[in-house]
Amino acid sequence: MTPKLILGIETSCDDTSIAVVDQSGHVLSCKTASQVEVHEGYGGIYPEFASRAHVAAIIPTVSAVLKEAGVPPAGLAAIGVTRGPGLIGSLLVGIHTASGLGAGWGLPVYGVNHLRGHLRSPLLEGGTVDYPAIVLLASGGHTLLAFMKNATSIELVGTTRDDSVGEAYDKVARMLGLGFPGGPEIDRLAKTGRATIRFPRPMLGKGFEFSFSGLKSSVRRYMEQNPEPVIADVAASFVAACMEVLVGKCRAAISHYRPASLIVVGGVSASPQLRNAMKLLCEDTGARLALPPLKWATDNGAMIAMATFDYIEQDSDKQLEVAPNLPINML
Ligand code: KG4
Ligand code: ZN
Repeated sequence: MTPKLILGIETSCDDTSIAVVDQSGHVLSCKTASQVEVHEGYGGIYPEFASRAHVAAIIPTVSAVLKEAGVPPAGLAAIGVTRGPGLIGSLLVGIHTASGLGAGWGLPVYGVNHLRGHLRSPLLEGGTVDYPAIVLLASGGHTLLAFMKNATSIELVGTTRDDSVGEAYDKVARMLGLGFPGGPEIDRLAKTGRATIRFPRPMLGKGFEFSFSGLKSSVRRYMEQNPEPVIADVAASFVAACMEVLVGKCRAAISHYRPASLIVVGGVSASPQLRNAMKLLCEDTGARLALPPLKWATDNGAMIAMATFDYIEQDSDKQLEVAPNLPINML
C-alpha cells in the first residue's frame, strides 16, 4: 500500500512552516520561513507584520516543499492546517490558503489544533508513545499538564495562572540583553554560568498549576539591584528555578496518575537542560519519556501534518473556523 501523504500548514505565530509527512511519521520535506528578522526590533511578535510575512511566504514555501518531497498535489491525501490557538491574522492566512489549495486540488482540508500538533510531535521520525500518559506542554503560548488515557482522550490537569515558561525565557533574555527568541540564548549562556542566585520556585508543591510571572519579576529586581551582574549566573539560576518547578510538577503528576509515559513537548522541550532533567525524572519514576526529535520541538508544519492523521481516523468534522483561544481538549 502506498503511504498516505499529508500536507501540513502551520502559521499560528511567527513561522510559516509547511511539510509533507506520511503516516509512519516520516517527513519527506519541511520548510520554515522564519520571521525573526521582521520582529527583531520589537522585542516580541508584531501581529500585523506577522500576517503580512505569512502572506508573502506561504505559497512559495508550499511549492518548495512539494518540489523537494517530489510529490504532486494529486499525490496528497489531505491538507491539515492550524486553526488555533494563535494570532488571529496569522491563522487566517493559513486557513484561507489551505481552503483555496484544497478547493483547487480537490483535497479535504482539516483544521487542526496547534496543541494537538505538539502532542503528536514525538511520533515524527518513527517515535512511539505508550498510554496512559502525562503531558507537559511548555511553549511560548502555553504551559500545561494534561492526562491522556489514550491517544484521543485529553484531560487538562493544570495550566499557568499568568505567563508561560517560554514567555518567561523570552522576557528574561531581553532583560539580559540577549536576542529573540530567548530560549536558545538563555540555554547557551546558562551552560557557562553557576546557579548561585536563589530565585523563587513559584507554586512548587502546590497542586498542578503554574505561575512564572513572579519568577520573571524577581529576575528583573535582581538586575535592577545589581549594576554589574554576572549574566551567565543569572541565566543559570533562572533555568535552575524553571527546571525545579517543571520537574516537581511532573513528578507530582506521575505519582498521582501513575502513567506509562511522560510526554514533554512544546518549544521549551528543545532545552537541553529540560530534556536532561526529564530523562532523570523518568529513570527515577519508571515512566517512559516521549520527546519530539529536537528538530520538531518548536513550531513546525510536520507536527500539524502528523496530527491530521488523528482527525482523518476519527472522521472528525472539517472545522475551518479560526479559533485563537482553542483549548487542548478540543479538536
Ligand atoms: O512551541 P513554540 O515554538 O511556539 C509556541 O507555540 O509558543 O515555543 C516557542 C517558545 C519560545 O518562548 C522560545 O523561547 C522557547 O519556545 N524555546 C526554548 C528553546 N527553543 C525555543 N526554550 C528553552 N530552550 C530552548 N532551546
Ligand atoms: Zn507551538
